[in-house]
Amino acid sequence: MIKVLLFFLTSLFLFFSLPLLADTDNKPADNRINLHLTEIERAAFLSEMRQMLTSIQGIISGIAEEDIEKIIKSARYSGNRMARATPASIKEKTPQAFKEIGGPTHMMFEEMVVRAETDDMQTLTELTGQIMQQCLSCHAIFKANK
Ligand code: HEC
Repeated sequence: MIKVLLFFLTSLFLFFSLPLLADTDNKPADNRINLHLTEIERAAFLSEMRQMLTSIQGIISGIAEEDIEKIIKSARYSGNRMARATPASIKEKTPQAFKEIGGPTHMMFEEMVVRAETDDMQTLTELTGQIMQQCLSCHAIFKANK
């Protein structure tokens, strides 16, 4: 009887500890492509990224307040000016697939600058959603480690 009980308890323990054992091995794999930036390049790169988030924040607030100037000013920061200001060494390291998402993203901020003059707030919200889709697409594929 004791043996049966022990067998039962051991089985129970093993059964419930399996997921725990598996868990240590089971970290979600990070399959994103590494851009291999140096410390300095990475700092400049991430600073641009935070600026893009600031632009998105300004655009959304601008839309909510129907403040066209605010939308334009916020969008302009992350448009062509940012694309031109990216250090050459970073541009050289980024693969074609990166450029194919990044280039159009800056252009879409420029499109926001132009359309803010004419479009209604609903349409500008849609454009903001489309711009943010670009952020998501790139973040899913790349990382900026050394
Ligand atoms: C063409 C590629 C690309 C696009 C487009 C892109 N990002 Fe990024 N972003 C990255 C990469 C790569 C990282 C670094 C991620 C990592 O190393 O884990 C990053 C990091 C960030 C960070 C973290 C900054 C920090 O200090 O750690 C923010 C915030 C960010 N992005 C915002 C945005 C926003 C907002 C957009 C869209 C308007 C955007 N990004 C579009 C590639 C991109």
